[in-house]
Amino acid sequence: MQRRNFFKACAGLSIAAVDITANRVEAKTKKPEKMRPQVGDLLVHYDIEEGIKPILVSELELYVEQTMAFPQDSISKIVRNGSRFNKVMVIRLDPEEMDEKTLANSVNGVVAYSAICTHQGCDVNAYLKDSKEFFCFCHLSRYDPLKQGHVTNGPAQRKLAMLPLEQIGDQLIVRKKFTRKPGPA
Ligand code: FES
Repeated sequence: MQRRNFFKACAGLSIAAVDITANRVEAKTKKPEKMRPQVGDLLVHYDIEEGIKPILVSELELYVEQTMAFPQDSISKIVRNGSRFNKVMVIRLDPEEMDEKTLANSVNGVVAYSAICTHQGCDVNAYLKDSKEFFCFCHLSRYDPLKQGHVTNGPAQRKLAMLPLEQIGDQLIVRKKFTRKPGPA
């Protein structure tokens, strides 16, 4: 083999090796249970003891504490609970009180937000009924679900990611991907 051809062959081999590595990384990151919520996913309750149950719109009462949910692939039925960044909070609010963008991402008063605090990534797992805010116990950040999940009290600086919804029958379906990356920047 001529010297020039030898170097070309070596370069080709290293490009192929890089491709294989990239594909492996992609395959790993694209495991369905780890993929972020996809358009068409169903929102479900996921409980080790009680199993998987779709969240029913008729079960959600107005201004009652958020329900925790995970997306479920509509075809394979795999629940995307392989990453806690896929956990979402679902709550029913009064559409008349929502701002325009929140309303556009809601369905019949129901909205879904990432449950991961944008400060340091704790679960936002409480709701303050009087002020109608989500609350993170870790460092007391609060968010307004009527206004795109904006921060109403820090230390968090960034609003929550929102998950646009549609309703089919009594069930909640993901209409678009998260409006931003969930969790801390
Ligand atoms: S992690 Fe939520 S306020 Fe710090």
